Amino acid sequence: MSFRIAIIGLGTVGQGFVELLREKRTYLKNKYTLEYEVVAISDPVKGSVYHDEGLDLLEILSLVKKDGNINGYSSGNKGWDSLKTIKETGADIIAEITPTNLDTGDPGTTFIRTALQEGKHVITTNKGPIALHYRELNKLATENNKILKFEGTVLSGTPALNLSLSTLAGADITEIRGIVNGTTNYIFTKMDEGRNYAEVLKEAQRLGYAETKPDADVEGWDALAKIVILSNVVMGADIKVSDVERKGITNITQSDIQQAKRENKRYKLIARACKKNGKVNARVSPEKVEESDILFHISGVNNAIVFKTDALDCVTISGPGAGRIETGFSLLNDLISIHQTTIK
Ligand code: HSE
Repeated sequence: MSFRIAIIGLGTVGQGFVELLREKRTYLKNKYTLEYEVVAISDPVKGSVYHDEGLDLLEILSLVKKDGNINGYSSGNKGWDSLKTIKETGADIIAEITPTNLDTGDPGTTFIRTALQEGKHVITTNKGPIALHYRELNKLATENNKILKFEGTVLSGTPALNLSLSTLAGADITEIRGIVNGTTNYIFTKMDEGRNYAEVLKEAQRLGYAETKPDADVEGWDALAKIVILSNVVMGADIKVSDVERKGITNITQSDIQQAKRENKRYKLIARACKKNGKVNARVSPEKVEESDILFHISGVNNAIVFKTDALDCVTISGPGAGRIETGFSLLNDLISIHQTTIK
């Protein structure tokens, strides 16, 4: 069986996913017997195209590079909006990769809800729907006997959710503490080298690390979304965005960073969630961490999470926290997981 994939959102991450699907087609078939066609791509800015027999991904990537959109694709139906694409292209997996909206979760939540109701599996990197509506969407997936996977919402392709949900199954996680935003860690690392905040933020945007509106990174909203997801998905809590204390990094000056350096410390944007008497408390704020702390050594766009468990004490995972291919990889990993689950 060959999966029919529809991609909703062709931004930085969407393009990274398409690139991996193109490059790894033979490898995935040989190693996992996984076969697929991308039958549709829909994006309000980059354009939309649907071809029942599958799109030529090299042509798609060349068009985006050359024209900034896929309107010039050589065949198929053009201009279908995302809802029509989800409902009418016969796709069995929807890759929902639209920008995060932490106020309402939309349009992503509507796309995911519709896809599940229409009987499609969903893979997503969109933090809004999962931070705001995880319980509802998870229930909808179960009711429709479909799979909802969202590994890339936390630590991009670094498998923090898979580690805590599958590999650590059976260990009670009582505390989560980590660096979960790539952009701010990149900024702090470069400021530590003496570079200027505004210039480094621009660099993080250019490298595809920052959110569409980078305020989400530097004001701590992105880290907040991730600690809500970790609390609700990994610790079984039911906390809301408004329950989390949040402080961003915009007040930390170059002189604060240099002072920390003299103390042999480093500023890090730390997200934490603690479970006590069944209740989870979470917060996000910049903290000065000491050299003996493992998080002191996590630099650049890398992220890390320390899971405190009853059986193993602390287990740490570290790896890239953002990036085009790194986040695109999470979708590939989710796709393989759906294949392996449904093949049985
Ligand atoms: N803007 C996010 C970050 C992208 O910098 O971590 C990954 O979620």
